[in-house]
Amino acid sequence: MTSITAARGTRCFVAAALLGVFASGAVAASSDYHGLPPPPVAARQGAKLTAVCSACHGATGVSVAPAYPNLAGQQYNYILKELEDFRSGKRTSPIMSGMAMTIPAAPGNRDLKDIAAYFSQQPLPDTVAAAPAPAAQLKLGRQIYTQGLQGRGVPACAACHGLGGGGNGPMAIPALALQHETYVLAQLELFASGARSNAPGHVMHSIAKHMNKTQQTAVAAYVRQLDPRTTLGIGPKTYSQYVRQQMAGPAPPTPPGTTHAPVSAAPAKRAAPGPAAAVSSTHIEAPTGRAQPGAADAATRRESGHD
Ligand code: HEC
Ligand code: HEC
Repeated sequence: MTSITAARGTRCFVAAALLGVFASGAVAASSDYHGLPPPPVAARQGAKLTAVCSACHGATGVSVAPAYPNLAGQQYNYILKELEDFRSGKRTSPIMSGMAMTIPAAPGNRDLKDIAAYFSQQPLPDTVAAAPAPAAQLKLGRQIYTQGLQGRGVPACAACHGLGGGGNGPMAIPALALQHETYVLAQLELFASGARSNAPGHVMHSIAKHMNKTQQTAVAAYVRQLDPRTTLGIGPKTYSQYVRQQMAGPAPPTPPGTTHAPVSAAPAKRAAPGPAAAVSSTHIEAPTGRAQPGAADAATRRESGHD
């Protein structure tokens, strides 16, 4: 009897030890993308590695078709994490699983980091020119994005993805602003069904599965036209204006409480940023671009000169 108990005890101990190893392995792997952003030189290296990627994601990460996600201005840590996940099989895609394997496994994940650096430092696409979604749809989308769906247990997307849709660098939370709605909707469906299950703590599964198709479509349409440069009311309205502003010198600091400047009136009814500010004032600090609360990230972007 005692020996059985002892054996069981040993098995438990071994299992616990294995779990420990596994857990520390996971920590070691994740430390790769919770590190400091790369120096600008990495981006120049990465540019040389992205010829194959550009066929779908575009040479500067502005993708050629709505099923392919834009990578321009995406968070460095997030791109790196996704590439690691595709390579390890934690995230699968008929196309990307193979593509990620074509990247050489350089020591210290150097090539993955260089590629992530390159795309993360590319300028955001210019303001969306396509026909805007119907006003009622954008209104619902904005409501979900900024307030969540009370009663369904869906939190405000803005709480994690940022009021301007810029994501969160240190937490590897992706930018959603200006992302193709076809792609965003497809990902919400994959999260809801569990086919994509690589979010930490399966957070996106519990969110997406509590939304119906109308709600998912509306929020996808909303983020498609969400542009941190205009939504936060503190940036230039187009990328060319932004470049001019950059060349003219550093932007003045944002005065407190000025988060609601009206959005570009141009391509019809862009949803004005509304009560969203309630979410968190920390999301409003990034001067322009997608980088949000991550100070280190913002610093890199400033260094790289496009943000
Ligand atoms: C043949 C088209 C194609 C090529 C070439 C391609 N990709 Fe992709 N990529 C996709 C598709 C499709 C997805 C979305 C996968 C899904 O549905 O989950 C994607 C997703 C990604 C993502 C995740 C983006 C996100 O927002 O989650 C990253 C990062 C990425 N690709 C990087 C690369 C890199 C780096 C290369 C070059 C080595 C590359 N891709 C080559 C089609 C392509
Ligand atoms: C608690 C934080 C949190 C909240 C709230 C949240 N998300 Fe996410 N979301 C994440 C994280 C983390 C990921 C990255 C998953 C991964 O590691 O691949 C993500 C990924 C995504 C992606 C995939 C993006 C891509 O490029 O592939 C979409 C789309 C998305 N979220 C939409 C939403 C929407 C819409 C809402 C609101 C209804 C929302 N999220 C609320 C944390 C959150």
